[in-house]
Amino acid sequence: MSRIVCLNGEFLPLAEARVSVLDRGFTFGDGVYEVIPVFAGNIFRLDEHLDRLDNSLTGLDIKIDYQRHELKNILKELVRRNPAAGDQQLYMQVTRGITDRDHFYDEHVTPTFFAMCKPASGKDFSNGVSVITHEDIRWQYCHFKATALLASVLLKKLARDSNCHEAILIRNGMVTEGASSNVFIVADDVIKTPKKDNNVLPGITRDLMVELLQLSGNVCQETDITEQELQQAGEIWISGSTIGVVPVVNLNGKKVGSGKPGRYWRQARELYEAYKINGPHTIQQQDCVV
Ligand code: PDD
Repeated sequence: MSRIVCLNGEFLPLAEARVSVLDRGFTFGDGVYEVIPVFAGNIFRLDEHLDRLDNSLTGLDIKIDYQRHELKNILKELVRRNPAAGDQQLYMQVTRGITDRDHFYDEHVTPTFFAMCKPASGKDFSNGVSVITHEDIRWQYCHFKATALLASVLLKKLARDSNCHEAILIRNGMVTEGASSNVFIVADDVIKTPKKDNNVLPGITRDLMVELLQLSGNVCQETDITEQELQQAGEIWISGSTIGVVPVVNLNGKKVGSGKPGRYWRQARELYEAYKINGPHTIQQQDCVV
């Protein structure tokens, strides 16, 4: 069955969806996006994703006509029109729209809205992944989820060249995040993730994990993490909508901790999986003993 996508409010088969070559998403990478997991047909943390979309749109001065309930209806309709046995991923992007090529943009141009739904990769990362570190070569508006991802694409290529899944990025000696994920470390029974600033995407999975870990009685701090702390961490995890929470077992060719997924990660995964099934208000402090 052909995939149905939504382009500017119209539902149509993927092969029939057409955008002008003058769309600023194509010529300038001038747009924002979201990737939202769909678990058993339920769109996960939709309001949080739409809040972040609003923030990215405001930050990049792109104005869309859609009200939140209309966006929600479009996304729900997309899931309905693309039935799948397993989990799915919703992708949604808004570009500034179609203008003749000019760095200066016309504030009155109509943005292009596109959304699609596809089956989740279903990859199992529970044995852990290997990562490299690399200088954070991206721009300084990483808190906006912009479609201009060239630096991230090149960083992922460098990771893959080293048979790794991810590049953990370092700016001025501090960990920011992965090229397409957020980062957690565990040291001396304290879980840490970099605090949110302009160098870090406010990950929906990250925020949820901080909330769940703290609710379950763990010490989970949003704070600076030095490159040295990363290298000496007993556990490292990466998180994201398409991967959940994944243990890192090898950093730059060296084992992380025992070289096996750690016990804090196991707890984190349980919290995440339970939340996926039961939603909020399911965490009891006494349920969680590491
Ligand atoms: N990326 N940091 C960066 C740079 C990311 O690209 C992503 C996710 C995250 C994790 O955010 P979240 O938990 O909201 O997915 C952090 C998506 C999945 C992507 O670009 O495909």
